[in-house]
Amino acid sequence: MKLGIPKETRPGETRVAVTPDTVKKLRVKGLEIFVEKSAGVDAHFTDDVYKNAGAKLVDAKTAYGSDIVFKVQKPKSDEIEQIKKGAILVSLLDPCADDDTLERLAQAGVDTFALELVPRISRAQSIDALSSQANIAGYCATIEAARLYGSFFAMMMTAAGSAKPTKLMVLGAGVAGLQAIATARRLGAQVFAFDVRPEVKEEIMSLGGKFVELDLGESGAGEGGYAKQLSKEAQQRQQMLLQEEIKKMDIVISTALIPCRPAPILITEDGVKGMRPGSVIIDMAAVSGGNCPLTEADKTAVKHGVTICGITNFPALLPTDASSFYARNLFNFISLLLKDGDDTSGLREYTEDEITAAALAVHNGTVRFKKPN
Ligand code: NAI
Repeated sequence: MKLGIPKETRPGETRVAVTPDTVKKLRVKGLEIFVEKSAGVDAHFTDDVYKNAGAKLVDAKTAYGSDIVFKVQKPKSDEIEQIKKGAILVSLLDPCADDDTLERLAQAGVDTFALELVPRISRAQSIDALSSQANIAGYCATIEAARLYGSFFAMMMTAAGSAKPTKLMVLGAGVAGLQAIATARRLGAQVFAFDVRPEVKEEIMSLGGKFVELDLGESGAGEGGYAKQLSKEAQQRQQMLLQEEIKKMDIVISTALIPCRPAPILITEDGVKGMRPGSVIIDMAAVSGGNCPLTEADKTAVKHGVTICGITNFPALLPTDASSFYARNLFNFISLLLKDGDDTSGLREYTEDEITAAALAVHNGTVRFKKPN
C-alpha cells in the first residue's frame, strides 16, 4: 500500500505529516512512503534524510495519488481533486468550519478521518493531535507573551535596580492553558488561572498556579473533558468578575473553547481599557473568533494601550517538534487500521475500533460527521 505525504500549502504552515523517524516505522508496517520533494524543509527535515529513511521523493501529484494520504491542514479543492477515489485521507480537518471540504471529499469518494474527532479517552492519548498541538501552542503563546511584554517575567535584583515578577493570568486551563501555566511558572511569573470546569483546580495548583475562584452561579463542565456553554446571565457575570481580576494582571493568555461554537467572550472592551498600558493579551481562541472582541486573527495590534495578539497557528512556530509529535499521532492512528504481521492485503474495518469509528468523518461518499446542536 502506498502512503503519500504532500507538502503543506496553506500560508504560514511549516509542519509536515511524517518525519524520517515515522517513515522508518511506517515502512516496517509494510507501507511504501511517497514524500513530496521539500515537504519537510520548513520543519528542518531535508529531502536527503527522508531518502535515507527509505522514502521515495515525488511530485505533489504522485503524493496525492497514493492509497493513503497524510496531511496537517485540510486539503484545498484543487488538492482534493488529486486524491483518488477510494483512497483514505487522515488529517486535521476543522470539521465544524462553515465550508464544504467534507462534502467535496465525499463527492470525490475519499474516506476521511478527521483527527479532531478522536475521542479524549486514555487509549487515544497517543493519537490525540489536538492535544499534542495545543500543548505546543500553549508553550509558544507564553514565549510570545514574554517577547511582547516590556519587562522580565521573574523577579530580578540587579545593581541597576530590581524588577517585580510579572502577574500572568490564564483563562481556560485545558491542554494549551495548562502548558501556558507551566511555561510561565518556569520563566518565573506569578501565575493565576480560571476555568469553568472546577475539576481543573488541582491541576492548576500542582503546576504552581493560583486558582481564581469566581462564583458564576453554575458549573461549565460538559461532556468528554470539554466545557459547555454558560447561560447568558453566567456569561455576563463572568465578564464582570474577570474585569476586576484582569486589571491586576500584566499578561492574560486566554484559551477558552467550547467545541464547535464561537469562542466565548471573556474579556470585554471595558476589560481591556481597565488594563495597564503595556499589558499583553494573547488570545489563543482567535481562530474561532477570539475570547476578546478586539482580537484580530493573525495580527498583533495595540488597543487602548494593550498589545493584543491573535496568532492562530502557534504550532507552526515550533515546526520540528510540532511535526514530530503530529507524525507520531498519525503513525499511532494508522497502526489501528493496519492488519498485523505481513498481511498488507487491506485495512481493518474502520468500525472495528471505537477510535477509528469516531474519527471517520466521510465514508463511502457520505459525510458521517454531524455538528453538535
Ligand atoms: P481545551 O478544550 O483542552 O481547553 C479549553 C478550556 O477552556 C477548557 O478547560 C474549558 O473548560 C475552558 N473554558 C471553556 N469556556 C470557558 C469559560 N467561559 N471560561 C473559562 N474557561 C473556559 O482546548 P485546548 O486544546 O487547550 O485549546 C484551547 C484553545 O486554544 C482553543 O480555542 C483552540 O482552538 C486554541 N488553539 C489555538 C492554537 C493557536 O495556534 N492559536 C493552537 C491550538 C489550539
